[in-house]
Amino acid sequence: MQHRDYKSYTTLQLKFSMKVALLTVTVVLLVAGESTAERILSRRTKRELAGPLHMGGVRDPYGSYCQRRGGCCPGRDDMCTVPYLDTICYCDLFCNRTVSDCCPDFWGHCLGVQPPFIGTCERNGNKFLTGQTYKENCNLCTCGSLGRWECEQNSCLIEADMIQAVNRGNYGWRAANYSQFHGMTLDEGIRYRLGTQRPSRTILNMNEIQMNMDPQSEHIPLYFNSVEKWPGKIHEPLDQGNCAASWAFSTAAVASDRISIQSMGHMTPQLSPQNLISCDTRNQGGCAGGRIDGAWWYLRRRGVVTEDCYPYSPPQQTPTEAARCMMQSRSVGRGKRQATQRCPNTHNYHNDIYQSTPPYRLSSNDKEIMKEIMDNGPVQAIMEVHEDFFVYKSGIYKHTDVSFTKPPHYRKHGTHSVRIIGWGEARKVDGTVQKYWIAANSWGKNWGENGYFRIARGENECEIEAFVIGVWGRITMEDMHNHHHHRKYK
Ligand SMILES: *[C@@H]1O[C@H](CO)[C@@H](O)[C@H](O)[C@H]1NC(C)=O
Ligand SMILES: *[C@@H]1O[C@H](CO)[C@@H](O)[C@H](O)[C@H]1NC(C)=O
Repeated sequence: MQHRDYKSYTTLQLKFSMKVALLTVTVVLLVAGESTAERILSRRTKRELAGPLHMGGVRDPYGSYCQRRGGCCPGRDDMCTVPYLDTICYCDLFCNRTVSDCCPDFWGHCLGVQPPFIGTCERNGNKFLTGQTYKENCNLCTCGSLGRWECEQNSCLIEADMIQAVNRGNYGWRAANYSQFHGMTLDEGIRYRLGTQRPSRTILNMNEIQMNMDPQSEHIPLYFNSVEKWPGKIHEPLDQGNCAASWAFSTAAVASDRISIQSMGHMTPQLSPQNLISCDTRNQGGCAGGRIDGAWWYLRRRGVVTEDCYPYSPPQQTPTEAARCMMQSRSVGRGKRQATQRCPNTHNYHNDIYQSTPPYRLSSNDKEIMKEIMDNGPVQAIMEVHEDFFVYKSGIYKHTDVSFTKPPHYRKHGTHSVRIIGWGEARKVDGTVQKYWIAANSWGKNWGENGYFRIARGENECEIEAFVIGVWGRITMEDMHNHHHHRKYK
């Protein structure tokens, strides 16, 4: 019985679908007929005003249009057309008056002359036709009507001559090509690879903490690296990709290190920048830049989970898009908070919320910054990134003058934030001593010295000593016990 039912049902369905199919075909024909007529009509009335069909040179110069149509028309004949790419072209003599809308074979087939604006360009021994393009680093080159390549004149993030100039000069650092930057314009680098807004005047006027320190009696070593003092507690540099969110990366990184140090390794969370990017949205721009004071506010009042719980997902299509927030927390008293959602990473069940105390600002005196790092751990610093910083590979960075002879659009800078983890001194070729900071960037581990860079210290290079921030994690004895079982033994 069931079998028959099924059969009759399918027969019915078949009949019905055929009917629908027939109907669809009719409708499609109607629509198609109408739209073609409409298009020709609209082309006709707008003909003299229509934009030139062959602005960048004749496209499809070897196609046969007038020939396929079966001939040309004398004088003006607005119906003398052939479909051409996504529009129509004309084979009447009138088209030659404006040149703009003749079919590509009009001149050859109807007049027996060379079509205007036809050029071929050469590249690596190959011929290209007018209108064809190729990309040279960050610039699009188009084969122009005169047979010459016409290229955009953007300054690129990777400029071969800048790399050479840095490496030939005596600047104290080496430059290298990075495939992830090749093909990007300098503007795109500034727009998508940094992402910290300059602090507002109020924030800039934030009081510096008073350090009762006597630089004379205080023993500060010539070299210090947090990684060596606190092994396993300093987190490796991450990669922000094409997302201007250094505000979230530097904040999460400094908080991660501070919590690990302060808890004496009972907790070593790598805090989630994505949690900040997607959820700290008040007055923040996600992957379009943000403020570090806002990030610290969020870390104190809402808290974030770990990177493993809420993994980073760099933007895929447009670099400034930000994914929707997938983590919330609620108060459980005494200022502590608890997650109300599971980890976005479904394999992780540890959705503990980590918080910080209010951040504090350090003075711009390098000795005081050094003492803070040595006593309490890495600090956050704002810095101005200039065009030559992107190609930094090793050594002690100082902004160079290699772009000074070029047009102004080769010199750009934007505000970034990084994590300073130590310092040192190196003797230069000329015998003088160059003091430096060791800092972590967020451009991946293949950039710079394994993701880190060294930069001149004590001279406010790129304003790196102008706004330096320290912070404490919010940790109780209870936390120490609760988190004990998450601890990874090596
Ligand atoms: C077609 O246009 C070209 C260039 O504008 C002109 O030299 C030529 O005389 C025109 N030919 C005719 C048949 O109008
Ligand atoms: C940089 O690397 C890319 C490939 O990753 C290469 O196409 C380009 O020519 C290189 N540029 C320089 C200046 O070496």
